[in-house]
Parts: sequence; C-alpha cells; structure tokens
Amino acid sequence: MLKKLVFFFVFFIFSCPLFAQNPNDEEKKVFIDNLLSKMTIKEKVGQLRLISVGGDLTLDKVLDQIEAGEIGGIFNTVVEPDLSRMQERALRSPNQIPVYFGFDIVHGHRTVFPINLGIAATWDRNAFAKVAEVSADEATSDGLNVTWAPMVDITRDPRWGRVSEGFGEDPYLASEAGRIFVEKMQKQSLADKKSLVTTVKHFALYGAVEAGREYNSTDMSERKMFQEYLVPYKAAIDAGSRAVMVALVSVNGIPATANHWLLTDVLRNQWHFDGVVVSDHGAIRELINHGVAQDAKDAVRIAIKAGIDVSMNDEYFLQFLPELVDEGAISEDLINQACRHVLELKYDMGLFKNPHRNLDPNFDIETMFANDRLHRTEARDVARRSIVLLKNENNLLPLDKNKKIAVIGPLADSKRDILGSWSGAGRANLAVTPLQGIKNAIANPKLVSYAWGANLSDDPNLDKFLNLYGESSKFDKRPANKMIAEAVAQAKKSDVVVVFVGEAQGMAHESSSRTDLDLQASQKRLIKALKATGKPLIIALMNGRPLTVKEEYQQADAMLETWFLGTEGGNAVADVLFGDYNPSAKLPMSFPDNVGQIPVYYSHLKTGRPHGTVNMGKYTTSYFDSPNEPLFPFGFGLSYTDFTIDFSLSKTEMSPNGEIEVIANVENTGEREGAQVVQFYLQDVTASVSRPVKELIGFESITLKPHEKGQVKFVIKYDMLKFWNDKMQYVAEPGKFNVFVGADSTTKDKQTFTLLDN
Ligand code: NOJ
Repeated sequence: MLKKLVFFFVFFIFSCPLFAQNPNDEEKKVFIDNLLSKMTIKEKVGQLRLISVGGDLTLDKVLDQIEAGEIGGIFNTVVEPDLSRMQERALRSPNQIPVYFGFDIVHGHRTVFPINLGIAATWDRNAFAKVAEVSADEATSDGLNVTWAPMVDITRDPRWGRVSEGFGEDPYLASEAGRIFVEKMQKQSLADKKSLVTTVKHFALYGAVEAGREYNSTDMSERKMFQEYLVPYKAAIDAGSRAVMVALVSVNGIPATANHWLLTDVLRNQWHFDGVVVSDHGAIRELINHGVAQDAKDAVRIAIKAGIDVSMNDEYFLQFLPELVDEGAISEDLINQACRHVLELKYDMGLFKNPHRNLDPNFDIETMFANDRLHRTEARDVARRSIVLLKNENNLLPLDKNKKIAVIGPLADSKRDILGSWSGAGRANLAVTPLQGIKNAIANPKLVSYAWGANLSDDPNLDKFLNLYGESSKFDKRPANKMIAEAVAQAKKSDVVVVFVGEAQGMAHESSSRTDLDLQASQKRLIKALKATGKPLIIALMNGRPLTVKEEYQQADAMLETWFLGTEGGNAVADVLFGDYNPSAKLPMSFPDNVGQIPVYYSHLKTGRPHGTVNMGKYTTSYFDSPNEPLFPFGFGLSYTDFTIDFSLSKTEMSPNGEIEVIANVENTGEREGAQVVQFYLQDVTASVSRPVKELIGFESITLKPHEKGQVKFVIKYDMLKFWNDKMQYVAEPGKFNVFVGADSTTKDKQTFTLLDN
C-alpha cells in the first residue's frame, strides 16, 4: 500500500508542470548557451535590432548587414523572394542565425476584416477566432512569422485616432478578444507552420493619453491601472503572447520605454513574462525629447536597463551598446539576457531547424494579391456581424429589394476607405464598396442610383492632411451646391435614400487625433438637403471612432454603424440593409452625446452624490448643459426582432469556494430569427474602496427563431469578485453583490447575492 502511495506521489509530482523538466527546455538551453558562447558582443546586439528596408537603408544595405550578423529581425517587407534572399544571407552570417519577419497584421492580412473596434462589436468569440486564424494563415503563407498585434489598449477617449485599432472601453471584452487573438494566431506551438507570433501592444496605457492627443502622456492611479487598463495586456500574456510592444507615451511621468517599474518589476517579475520586449518605432531616440536622456547613447543605456530587448528600426543599439558594455555602464549579462529572449523565440519557432519555413524564393509576386487567395466568405461573415443597428424607426429596415434606392455620399463607393487603417497588405481594388454590394444584392441593379453628394470636408487643411503621403482621399473640385443638387435629384427619383458619411480611413489612424467629433459641415449640409426631400433616410456611418451624431440621429429614419468593414464590407452592408443578415452587433465603446462628456464610459466609479432628478439634479454629479448619459451606451445595438430577457440566480449566498449560476431566459418576441448578446454585469455594493457602478463579467450570444425561447447560463466564480483593495491586494471582500443581466450596459434588472466570509 505504502509503495503504491509513493508511486502515485512521485507520478503526481513529475506530471505537475512546475516540476516537470521538459527535455526540450534542456536541449534549448544547451543550444542557446552554446550559441551565445560563440557570439561576439556585436553579434549579440545584432539580434536586438529590428530593421525595415526604406529611405537610405536600401535592400542591398540591409542584406549586407544581415550577413554581417547585425540584424535579428526584419519588418515591413512582405515580398517572399526578398524575404528568401534575406534568410539566405542570414545563413551566411558568422553564426548562421536566421532572421524573423514581422508586419502589422492588425485586422487581417491580404483579406482585410473590419477594424478592431468593429471586430469587438461582434461580441462573438468565434468571430475573433476566425479573424485571428485567417490572418495567421495568410501571413504565414506569405513567409511572415511575427505580427505587431493584438492592440489591446483600453480606449475611452474617442478623440484619439487609434481607438479604431483597439477593442474598445471595457477590460473584459478587450481581454477576451486579445486572449483569442493570441491563442488562435500563435496556436498550440510556435513551431506549427501556421503559427504567427503575437506582440501585444502598446504596453502600457497608450489608450489613456491625456486629452486624447496622440503621443501625449498618461497619468493614472495604480489601482485604476491594475483594475482596468493593465488587465487586457495581462490576459494576452497569460494566453502566451511571446512578444510585447512598449507604448510611446510616458506612464506616471516616466516614458514607458524607460520605465523599469513597468517593464521589469511588473512585466517580468510580477507577471513572469519571458518573451521579447520590443520598443516602438523611434521610441529610444524619443527619450531625449521626453527629457529623460541627454543624448542617444544615454537613451540606449536607459532603455536596455529598463527592460527593452529589441529596438524597432534601430538607429543606436549597434552604435552604442558595445561601447556601453566596454565602459562598464551596462553589464554584458543584460545584453546576454535580451539576446537569449530573441534566440529562444527563434528556437521555439523552429527557425534554426527550418529557416526557410513558408518561404518560396520563386514565388510569383504578381499572384501574391490574387483574388483567389482571399478569404471572402469569412470576411463577409465577420463584417456583417460587426454592423450595429442604432435606429430603425417604423421598421424602415430591412429594405425591399424591389425599391428604388439612392446611394449617396463620399464614402459610398470608396474602395480605399472601407479597408480602414493598418491594412498594408490589403488591396483596395479587391474591396467591395457599399454601392457595389447593394448592386450585387438585387436582381435589377438599375434600381440603384448613386451620387457623390459632398466632399468629406470643406477644409483644405484636412484634404492636405489626408493626402500628405500620396493620394489617399478624393476631393471633388465641383462647387458644393452642385454636388448636393445632384444628390437631391437622385433622392427625389428614389423610394429610399442611404447616405454614407463619417471619416476617411486616414482620420482614424495613428496620429489622427481630433477635438471635434461632429460630422464635417459638408456632410451635415448634404444630410439636411436629403432630409428635406422627405424620402426615408438611412444614415450609414463609416468611421473608426465614436462620433457625436445626435443631430443626425434625430434626422435619420434608420441609422447603422458600419465602421471600416474591410474587403467584403459592401456585401456585408447589403446583407444587413436587405435583411439577409439580422444585425446583432453591440457597441464596444460609448458614443458621447457631446465632446464635453469625454471620457464617458459605463463602468465609472460610484460617487458621493449620484445623479438625481430632483431639483434639476442640482448638487448631484451632473452637467447643467448636458445629460450624463452618452448618446449610445456601451453594449447597445438593435435587431430587426425584439427580445425579452429575465434571469435568476441559483443561490443568494456564496462561500469563497462556491459558485452561483445565473440563468437568463431569453425570448424572441418578434417575427424574425435573430441573435441577442446577453450581457452579465456585476456591482460590488460595499467595499474598502469605491467600486464601479457596473462591470462586465461575461457575455453569451443566443440565436432564436420567431417566438422561440432559450436559456443562457453563466457561472459566477470567486475570482470574478476580486479587486485591488485599499492596500493594493487583489482580494474579494465578503458582502453584497448585485448582478445585472440585459441587452446593454444600461440594464437595471438586478438580483442580489451575498459573499460569505467562509
Ligand atoms: C508604430 C506604431 O505605434 C505601432 O503600433 C506599429 O506596430 C509600429 N509603428 C510598426 O509599424
């Protein structure tokens, strides 16, 4: 008996991951130790350099540097024959260390999916998975092996252009999207030929830039960081993301690139991250501008000491790191450690065994962007799941396919804009615009007429801004009234008008902050004129951030948020307009009533003077000239059918090792099949610190036929009740909790339970 027990004990200990010694790990260590022992300091530094061909740095120069062992990774090249040449030259470098190839694969690769804010609007884990899988599949078959994604910065300030790249305002939703992107892109093993290494970014708090102004600084309490803003990065790292990209901003006074607390104390020591930390483009040099480094050499010293491994588009590592080691300003151990992170990544990717993985030197680049290499079915499916129905008066939608439709607006037929930002490998000529999609959907395309209607803006500066680096946005030189008259004439001849307004893709990008979130005056005039025709008016917004569209909301009979939907965007819009798909998306970010409310988000803290209605709300937290509530709340989105939701809890008391089941009964009370995203929110009633009025802890989608009833279940576990308390410990405190379940974040339906002491 005793023998048996000993056997089971030994078996248990060695099958436990903590104790198990993976033979692969030992092999890897020996291999890398051996390699490091042969490398010069210059070669080690070479591994920390990530280089992009461009400007003075021609392909030939880069090839020479690779062969000299001065480059560890390449980014921004997607042409396989070039990648092959680079790899061949790397194999001629002193220690034959292969290079890796990175690119911004943010919302698709050759097939472009909706921008990430749109992907988040699906609230659909299968959609997140599909985007990630297709992206990894396409990118790896083009020879790439690293992406600078997912971007999981929490964004609550729509003035910031990069809200378009993230998954919105909520830590849980962004964490789910980030986690799934990492799992599905990297796969079980990095050695899988289809595995694409993820780089979660931008660590940290880039989305909280003051006043929404690009590259500005961020300042935040540690509690808010750990409770909300750091959560999605941690989720992506826990999911195994092997790289992290560092934010360009300063965090509580110290630039992230120089922030030892962030990069070493938190990321490495608390979170046990053992992958590669990459600086953002130019970030090391910018430490001088931030005022924390005297010169480039000082910046290099500070960055490497803080915890940066790899310098993106390196200018100074090679120049100064060997010198800094010689002078004793930094230890060689630091370089060894950073280099080890890179070599381990390459080892795990299997690059030492198969450096030419996915590379075909004879690949015909003419066929690279061929239509039959696209995943159109997947793109259309995700795109239509991203479209949010914001208004549908008198059930104007879905449209009858036999009606005459006037399709109007500067974005109705723009192939470039519909792809959105960060779509470098996408091809506009392969994109389907809304005009084309609408024509595709109906038997008689002659029922569709089209007019440009108005330029995106009257502002010549915006025209210049958008076209600074080559023609990207079209501006029609005709007089504005002529363009409007043409649109009005088309509208008058039609049964219904669909106008596509919003932003050019270049307005919702890196470096595109704005202070005014209204539609441009030119677009407003167009809408007013179309409204005056008396024809039913559908406003389809195409934009990369929440806009302030109260006036248009009032003018519209129906309103859709279509984001930038990607390659299949136009067909997806048509699917929704004609009811071939019943919209189910929900907003991942609150749409402010006016810019003065920003930041406006659903999970704000309770206050001492909650907003009341008595005496005009005086002496309660409120504005005298604006409501507190956003125009559209987080989680909001309509359907062509109606649903009711009621729910119950399995228990009203929970012990620390217990669970509570939440059972939501959902009924489709309308006449069409449709999907509802049931949202689960929690409120900690009393705690040692003020807690949010509500926090999303789960969501599940259910599809029901007309008048069908169904159930969605959700389990509340102890860990979900934890928060950072008054002593900055992550704990759950006994007491009352309210559970809210509903179709958006304003739901007031609640049930209460008590968390017991033990
Ligand atoms: C700068 C951007 O901030 C980052 O998100 C991107 O990955 C790099 N450039 C590389 O393109």
